[in-house]
This record gives sequence, C-alpha cells and structure tokens, in this order.
Amino acid sequence: MADLDTPRSAYPSTRMRRMRRDDFSRRLMRETTLTPNDLIWPVFVLEGQGQCEPVPSMPGVERLSIDLLVEAAREAHRLGIPVMALFPVTPMEAKSLDAREAFNPDGLAQRAVRALKDAVPELGVMTDVALDPFTTHGQDGLIDDSGYVMNDETVEVLVRQAVSHAEAGADIVAPSDMMDGRIGAIRAALESAGHIHTRILAYSAKYASSYYGPFRDAVGSAANLGSGNKYTYQMDPANANEAIHEVALDLAEGADMVMVKPGLPYLDIVRRIKDQFGVPTCVYHVSGEYAMLKAASLNGWLNEKAVVLEAMVSMKRAGADGILTYYAKEVARWLSE
Ligand code: PBG
Repeated sequence: MADLDTPRSAYPSTRMRRMRRDDFSRRLMRETTLTPNDLIWPVFVLEGQGQCEPVPSMPGVERLSIDLLVEAAREAHRLGIPVMALFPVTPMEAKSLDAREAFNPDGLAQRAVRALKDAVPELGVMTDVALDPFTTHGQDGLIDDSGYVMNDETVEVLVRQAVSHAEAGADIVAPSDMMDGRIGAIRAALESAGHIHTRILAYSAKYASSYYGPFRDAVGSAANLGSGNKYTYQMDPANANEAIHEVALDLAEGADMVMVKPGLPYLDIVRRIKDQFGVPTCVYHVSGEYAMLKAASLNGWLNEKAVVLEAMVSMKRAGADGILTYYAKEVARWLSE
C-alpha cells in the first residue's frame, strides 16, 4: 500500500506541451532550419534549341535544351539555389561500347557547363561523372565479354570525363559510378592539370536502388540497360558498415564532400556518416522519391507542399548539408512565401 501513502500531484510536473503552445515558442526551440542554401537542383539536358520535353514518370520535370537551361538557371539563381547538377540525355547515335562521348570537349554536358558559367557565373555548376548515358548497354562503366563492369579500365575513362568537365568550367564534379579508386585518380588528374579548385562530391554510399527507375527513363538509359542491374558496383541496401568504409576511402582519396543516395530510406546512413566524419554530406532525394510524392499529391492524397517540406527538413535533421532534389525550385519558392 506504499503508493497510497506517498503524496503526489495528480498532474505532470513536466509539460512538454508548454513550449508547443504558441508559434513564438515553437519557432524559438526549432532545431533544424531549411533554406534555399541547402538545395542542389538536378536537371536533364537535351540537344537542340527551344526543346522542352516532359518526363512522363516525373510529372513537372522537363528535359531542357541548353538555351532553356540557361533561362532556368537564371531563375534558380534568383531563388537563391546555390548549385545546379547536370544530367545529359545522349542521343542514341552518340552512345558506344567505349563511351568516348563522355569526354568529348564539345559534348552536351561540356557545352551546357560553358553556357551556364558564361550566363550565370555565380551559380555553382556540378556534373555527373559516370558512363551510363554514353554506353550502349547502359552500365556506368566499360564491360568485358561476360558483361562484367571492368574497374580500372572504367576509371581511366572517368578521369578523362572529369577533366573535360573541369576544363569546361565545372565547379563540382560528382562521380556517381561507384568504381573503386576513382576519387584518388580523378583528384590526381585534376591537380596535375592545374584544376586545383575543382571540388569533388563523391557518391560514396550509392545503393543499388529500385528508386532510380524514373531517372533512367529521363536520361534514356532504361532501354539500354534492359533487364541488367548494377549489383556488382552499387551497394546492397542491406548494408550500413560498408557505407562508412566507402566514405573513409573517398575522403582519404581526396573527396571534398560525400553523398548518400537515395534519401529518405537511407537517413540512418546520413546520420552515421555525419556523426563519424563531420564532413560536408549531401543526400540525393532521387527520382523515385519525387515520383511517389508527386503521384500522391496529384491524386489529392497528400498535401504536396507540406510533405515535400517535411521530407526536406527530415533530411537536414538527419545531418545532410546539401539536398539534391527535383523539387528544388518549388521548395525555394515555398520558403520565400
Ligand atoms: C547514374 C545515375 C543514376 C542516378 C544518378 N546518376 C542512376 C543509376 O545509378 O542507375 C539516379 C538519380 C535519380 O534516381 O534521381 N550514374
């Protein structure tokens, strides 16, 4: 009967709801803030003039020819978005087994970089370093007779691609290919070519994810890849310690920033990397994540602005410094309302 003898208040002494009661105290204790400075806007680039093609599996996303890309870049810059990431849509006739179009100094990506740096020099320009838009089989590297993606042969091509991007004026090169040793090889080549300011954002923890489907439609590599997969180089979604190992290697090889991809399903990885290394860490809210939120919003099942902003804040709360998202412009606009 000890309970009954002990005098105690019928009410809780700690009321968590006090601080939640009013907007002023909710704002005062808010731990995470989102600004346009956190955003990187990925865009798909097309050949031609005045070309703007919708991506069916990503409603609201369009592939743009360079002239329209420049207009879009001016708007992104006005909205306060610091960086755009370019993904070229390579015409089928420019694809080959050796992916030589990847390092063509007059390739689509290289021309797009030059046009952007010319028109909006203050906007950061990031390029994708990987061979999948340029190979006839849609793999990120060169394959042997058995179809296996060869590591060291691929790295040699990636190095030429990255240097050609830096020569065109890219501020950030972002290897998304997951070959071993590519960060060190690219860093050494950039240094010896005098590109000492080019930043490397390493896709360190890039998972073999099924959330990339709409992206492969957008760049037109889905058909080339067919029933192929990327399990021999991208990471198993079941693994976390391996991500830490990958990040440690990429940092040792000279990465300035690291990336986790996809985003929301992998926030445990973002948190572990941030806690362990404390380096600039990005996260990629990928095409499939965009498609899910967009589809539900278009059906009236979710409030688009509310869920997208919640997704963004969640990625920052997990430790991300930069968020690649197809929603970048909308987010920047919503934040300024
Ligand atoms: C390929 C690449 C992919 C994405 C970015 N770069 C797809 C893949 O690895 O197959 C996916 C991005 C997205 O889904 O938004 N190097």
